[in-house]
Amino acid sequence: MCGIVGYIGEQNATPIILNGLKRLEYRGYDSAGLAVLENGHIEVRRDAGKLEKLSALVQANPVSGKLGIGHTRWATHGEPSARNAHPHMGQTGEVVVVHNGIVENYLELREELTAEGVPFTSDTDTECIVHLIEGFLSVEGGLVEAVRRSLQRLQGAHGVVVFSSREPDKIVAARIGNAGGVVVGLGQGENYVASDIPAILEHTRQMVFLESQQMAVVTRADVQVMTLDGQPVEVKVNTINWDPISAEKGEYRHFMQKEIHEQVRSLTDTLAGRVDFDNGRITLAQLNVDAENARRIKKIFITACGTAAYAGQVGKVLIEDIARIPVEVDIASEFRYRDPIVDEDTVVLAISQSGETADTLAAMEEGRRKGATLWSIVNAIGSQAMRLADGYISMQTGPEIGVASTKAFTAPLVDLYMLAVYLADLRGVIDENRRYELVQDLRLVPALVGKALEKEPEVLQVAREMKYIRNALYLGRGINMPIAYEGALKLKEISYIHAEAYPAGEMKHGPIALVDRDMPVIALALKDPWYEKMISQIEQAKARGGAVVAVATEGDERVAGLADEVFWVPETPWRLSPVVSVIPLQLFAYHIASLKGLDVDQPRNLAKSVTVE
Ligand code: AGP
Repeated sequence: MCGIVGYIGEQNATPIILNGLKRLEYRGYDSAGLAVLENGHIEVRRDAGKLEKLSALVQANPVSGKLGIGHTRWATHGEPSARNAHPHMGQTGEVVVVHNGIVENYLELREELTAEGVPFTSDTDTECIVHLIEGFLSVEGGLVEAVRRSLQRLQGAHGVVVFSSREPDKIVAARIGNAGGVVVGLGQGENYVASDIPAILEHTRQMVFLESQQMAVVTRADVQVMTLDGQPVEVKVNTINWDPISAEKGEYRHFMQKEIHEQVRSLTDTLAGRVDFDNGRITLAQLNVDAENARRIKKIFITACGTAAYAGQVGKVLIEDIARIPVEVDIASEFRYRDPIVDEDTVVLAISQSGETADTLAAMEEGRRKGATLWSIVNAIGSQAMRLADGYISMQTGPEIGVASTKAFTAPLVDLYMLAVYLADLRGVIDENRRYELVQDLRLVPALVGKALEKEPEVLQVAREMKYIRNALYLGRGINMPIAYEGALKLKEISYIHAEAYPAGEMKHGPIALVDRDMPVIALALKDPWYEKMISQIEQAKARGGAVVAVATEGDERVAGLADEVFWVPETPWRLSPVVSVIPLQLFAYHIASLKGLDVDQPRNLAKSVTVE
């Protein structure tokens, strides 16, 4: 989705903006642009396509100045083109705007402005905003008041960043609702604005996050935050500890491959500070739950999208098995509209890497409206899903750049396991011995994931043999059923190969009709409580001429004798087996896409952070 960077200070804003936008490429975009205040007037460069095109434009027609804003656009209203790319300038050329989100009443506003004689030069909803601001620019209070009044006319959720040549000492930024974040980075005699932390992390670690309905007035020396009603807000500065280097590719060809390999470390970090192995105890301090609250919980709704929702399905098995609390997993875009039966004894638990997914945030708000306790498992520090929640678990994976989520899938699996044990302990439903054993199993996880990663050459070999497949059917049962879905999602989103997933027991109810030589079956047949069922499923697929690739436990002769290819994973306690069984499926999808020469980190039509509905 769209990315924003802004700068005000003593340096040339152009390279800072281009560099910042580069750091946001992972969000996905189809056009890019920047606006810089040069000798008192606003210069805009923008085009459809990747940032290289914008850089070439800037090289051919240089622009420099000490104040500027930039944007990467993911088209919603109007095709990707130079005229629809941001920034958008008003008719006087005195105001310029970049925007994330959708102006839901833009047709009405556009009609109104057109009737007043305002000429529109793009198909975007964003252009309304700049014309509105321009219309108010002469009111008392100048740009700040003009932005405030204009934003009050907008429906929907927005992140907006604006500057004007009439008031060349400031950038005004605002956030309404959940259309992605707005963060202000604090420097010495210079300040930054961005939609996401990585855009400005190389310049500063001191950051201020805007809440919904807040504006920031950013000058070289100062940042003032206020509500959209004009009430001053105390500026709260957060220190971000992420390492900017960890956002680079290092020795790997793609961020996705790097992130797959980072899982040993991210899972080690996931356990750190939360697991007391000596006493066999879990502590999740930021969840803000005590024994009394935990005992009151009658039901947990896990709500999320895509990969995060598959993590939630594993969580359901774990929480029901260990903590004996009923769990329902709901896709956030469905939950938000189906009037779910939720009350104050319900927990709504959102899972989100970005913490800014519009549907997930709306599902949280639905939970809030109905009086539920809100929890979240989130990667992006300071994101809305973290701030909306009554309690949260932070994923500890560091920034994830590849659009296909990998390390931000395995971390919440372990978080959910820890949550299950923690709740079971608080509610008194497990005895000390069982709790101790469950906790000890966690110790094995990083090393087991490391062992699964060592098999990358074998997975690559199978990927070489199978890179021309057109379809694939992923099957799993029990706790590994969601891993079939996750494996299929990984394959389709980065290699564009059609892949479907099914709970293996459903095969006989229809999908088995698809099985032949051209429909490889990827079967998760781990030594877990569903093992025998999976073996019989593999036999049925083989009997119909299907080529079977199994994910199996090392040393399993039965699977070796049945399957055409096997991705071996080390023996793992079954409740934690999804953390390990997903590794070869991540690698398989990665290598197929990479062998096909596809844009692995930024697959077509997808964005890292889906901040629109
Ligand atoms: C993952 O590979 C996908 N690109 C996508 O399904 C993603 O998991 C989903 O959009 C949810 O994102 P979030 O975790 O940032 O909320």
